[in-house]
Amino acid sequence: MINKSRIVRIVKTKQETPTIKSLFFQDDEASKSKPGQFLMIWIPGIDEIPMSVSNINPPRITVKRVGKGTEALSSLEKNDEIGIKGPYGNGFTITGQKVLVVGGGVGVAALLPLVKLLIKENKETTVIIGAKTKQELLFKREIEKLVGKDQLMICTDDGSAGLKMMASDLATHIVEKNSYDQIYTCGPEKMIYKIFELAEKKGTPLQAALERYMKCGFGLCGSCGIGHLLVCKDGPVLDSQSLEKVKEEFGKLRRGPSGEFEKI
Ligand SMILES: Cc1cc2nc3c(=O)[nH]c(=O)nc-3n(C[C@H](O)[C@H](O)[C@H](O)COP(=O)(O)OP(=O)(O)OC[C@H]3O[C@@H](n4cnc5c(N)ncnc54)[C@H](O)[C@@H]3O)c2cc1C
Ligand code: FES
Repeated sequence: MINKSRIVRIVKTKQETPTIKSLFFQDDEASKSKPGQFLMIWIPGIDEIPMSVSNINPPRITVKRVGKGTEALSSLEKNDEIGIKGPYGNGFTITGQKVLVVGGGVGVAALLPLVKLLIKENKETTVIIGAKTKQELLFKREIEKLVGKDQLMICTDDGSAGLKMMASDLATHIVEKNSYDQIYTCGPEKMIYKIFELAEKKGTPLQAALERYMKCGFGLCGSCGIGHLLVCKDGPVLDSQSLEKVKEEFGKLRRGPSGEFEKI
């Protein structure tokens, strides 16, 4: 079990969208991550927060500003230092031949290494990415290069790029016309929940990467609980069977910093 922060220097940064920034660094352990795994990132003097590995080699994290931890992380530049622990969690499992990948917002960060692996393994891969606006679409060019223009579908809430609809609604249209061996998803939990219902209706296996408030990242503190599962250890990727068992909380409730349930 790896539970000590390793201090790494940021070697490059890239502003991906007005609110999302990528940080690159070098680290032997992180460069052996599986798609869907995450790192605990320590920002000296501020906080320690979970971040998906958005590129495996060289390791990269891709941060959306939502509060003080992500704000501080987003303000870092080349040569600044962060502490990292991990990789933690299970990651995605490659299965089936014809697959659909659905990403919303910064959730696309966890899916990009998966799409790379799916293409490497010659899987027939269709990808849907959604965002609030055209400017906030994450990794559109990278995914287009991997899967080709025809297999990438775009949607935005305001219609400024692609179709004007939610990623879960676009997924519903696509899944009604096609059948897939496996659906993978990451993004806002309301979106994931709709895709779960869709996958259940079609009888298609699903793997979804979830987010919960995390303190330790490796199964000790219990803060990331969902039902009887710990998102840091049993997840963050949960399959249809596991999601079915935590349906009382999935898509509805999560624990906040004080351990109290809050609505999603
Ligand atoms: C396994 C895992 C992987 C993750 N990967 C990524 C990633 O690749 N990129 C990334 O940007 N984020 C990712 N997150 C989410 C990220 O960890 C949180 O956004 C971060 O911890 C928030 O910290 P903060 O101090 O900025 O916000 P806080 O000060 O803790 O919260 C500020 C406000 O933001 C809200 N908030 C907190 N978390 C989220 C959230 N996840 N989504 C929306 N609002 C939130 C809070 O409710 C609060 O209102 C991941 C989370 C998990 C569990
Ligand atoms: S974050 Fe501590 S048990 Fe999951």
